[in-house]
Amino acid sequence: MCGIVGYTGNEQAAPILLEGLAKLEYRGYDSAGLAVRDGEKLAEVVKATGKLYHLADKTDQGRALPGTCGIGHTRWATHGDPSMVNAHPHVSGNCSGSGSGQVESDVVGVHNGIIENFAELKEKLLHHGYEFYSDTDTEVVVKLVDYYYKKYKIGPVDAITRTMVRVRGSYALALMFKDFPGEIFAARKDSPLIIGTAKDASYLASDVPAILKYTRSVYYIGNLQAARVSPGQVKFYDLNGDEVTLPLSEITWDAAAAEKDGYEHFMLKEIHEQPAAVRDTLNSLVKEGRVSFSDAGLTDEIIRAVTQIDIVACGSAWHVGMAAQYVLEDLACVPVRVELASEFRYRSIPLGEHTLVIVISQSGETADSLAALRVAKERGAKTLAVVNVIGSSIAREADHVLYTLAGPEIAVATTKAYSAQLIAMDALAVQMAFVRGVISQEKYAQMLEELSTIPDKIKRVLEEKERIQWFSSKIVNAHDIFFIGRGLDYAISLEGSLKMKEISYIHSEAYAAGELKHGTISLIENNTLVIGVLTQSRLFEKTVSNMMECKSRGAYLMGLTTNGNFSVEDSVDFTVYVPKTDEHFVASLAVVPLQLLGYYTSVSRGLDVDKPRNLAKSVTVE
Ligand code: AGP
Repeated sequence: MCGIVGYTGNEQAAPILLEGLAKLEYRGYDSAGLAVRDGEKLAEVVKATGKLYHLADKTDQGRALPGTCGIGHTRWATHGDPSMVNAHPHVSGNCSGSGSGQVESDVVGVHNGIIENFAELKEKLLHHGYEFYSDTDTEVVVKLVDYYYKKYKIGPVDAITRTMVRVRGSYALALMFKDFPGEIFAARKDSPLIIGTAKDASYLASDVPAILKYTRSVYYIGNLQAARVSPGQVKFYDLNGDEVTLPLSEITWDAAAAEKDGYEHFMLKEIHEQPAAVRDTLNSLVKEGRVSFSDAGLTDEIIRAVTQIDIVACGSAWHVGMAAQYVLEDLACVPVRVELASEFRYRSIPLGEHTLVIVISQSGETADSLAALRVAKERGAKTLAVVNVIGSSIAREADHVLYTLAGPEIAVATTKAYSAQLIAMDALAVQMAFVRGVISQEKYAQMLEELSTIPDKIKRVLEEKERIQWFSSKIVNAHDIFFIGRGLDYAISLEGSLKMKEISYIHSEAYAAGELKHGTISLIENNTLVIGVLTQSRLFEKTVSNMMECKSRGAYLMGLTTNGNFSVEDSVDFTVYVPKTDEHFVASLAVVPLQLLGYYTSVSRGLDVDKPRNLAKSVTVE
């Protein structure tokens, strides 16, 4: 997704903006640009396609762009191809072909989101004499602000709030006005935006890492709110243009947490942070021998009254839901549906006051998951958010919030956040089982004790990483990889397959092992890699049989199982073992070798592990 930064203060803006954009690279982008203003002088815009260092080189690391007020942007193309003319910032007047140069216009701005009614707005503006130089929805919204600014002549905030009333879609906007040197104006609906303040300086950003170096004091601008940002001071306004007061929050992240700490990639660092992420999340929920969701406001009474659970998420978070479904149903005997948020939001699923909709999201900003949350609330369901980013949109809008304590996750491919979500859902399942009288006090205590051993068992899995690294070098040229399993092993396969394909670009599929025979087995050829996940003892033999069916058609087999199941070595070509644990909790262990396999395969292929092509860390558009 796009990244936005802004700065106004006493320092040179361009180097600060470039450094902020570098911290947002993980969000995914294909072009970048800056607009910087030196006092009363006109703003200067510089853009570049491709990697951020092209923009840094073009501006001599920002030194060629003097000025203490500016905005910056990394663009992940939605409307209009990745090109100079479509790169942000955009202006309210006309613009030269390169898109760079002095800004004569009244308004210049950057945007993250999608303006859904941009075509009708463009028609309106063309009718009023505006001309357009790009294919972007952003140029439309910047010109619409300019239209209201000139029409009503009562200032930027009024022009922005009128625009907000007229626009449909999502946006985080940062704008500069020629008549207001040294100031930045912002607006937000659904897309992430935070505003930080320090002595004589203010900062805007799409995410915390971009400003953590300068300040921990931030405002989480609300939905459909606007802001007027000057050095060290911020004013907020509602849709009517009336001033509103927001609380100043303190960011608790430590700066090192947003760095690599000596690892080659953020992903490898975050894989190794999983024991701590799981332990910290668990410790935040289990106190004095019992699970407490009191911080989330989820009382035992609410848990007891639940008759249906709907888990809604995207990507890996949805895979957590798929795993949690088996555990919740088996332990708590409660019906569970797991829905892709992008589907859930458009379905007519009946929900009632005793339906608990659990929205799982690392970023807390995923557009589909946020929209699904709103649909669930509209239909009267209770909503619980399981999120990793404090103050994120999903966290703020859900009835109840359970924060995972994975810390900042920078790599696009999630690992530690996935594991933290998984353990949180396991804890919820155990608590539900106990509160609803399905398990005894003794079993409850035993399960909580077993959960507490998971962090150390993950560490033991990590100690085997060299074997995984060796095996990844054998599969580096694979064309298709199939991950298969039954029950919880199928859910684990889903995550293993996504990790592989999203960072190594090798086509991969996860399949319920029993489903292969219904078509997909026709794809198995000589040396096709089939990875069988075999952690569920009562399904072990059945999945091994499915693997044999693949082997008889030429497949190369890897088995992933728990210590003690050595018999599998008679059937497969390569085996990976994880420590034994309660089979409800084994996903937290089995996923680690699959994360490492995807990681090392991507590294072997010389790919950008932390920032894979076409992907963004948080998909804040539909
Ligand atoms: C997983 O590695 C991907 N980064 C992606 O599938 C991600 O899990 C998905 O976009 C959901 O993101 P969220 O957890 O921030 O909502």
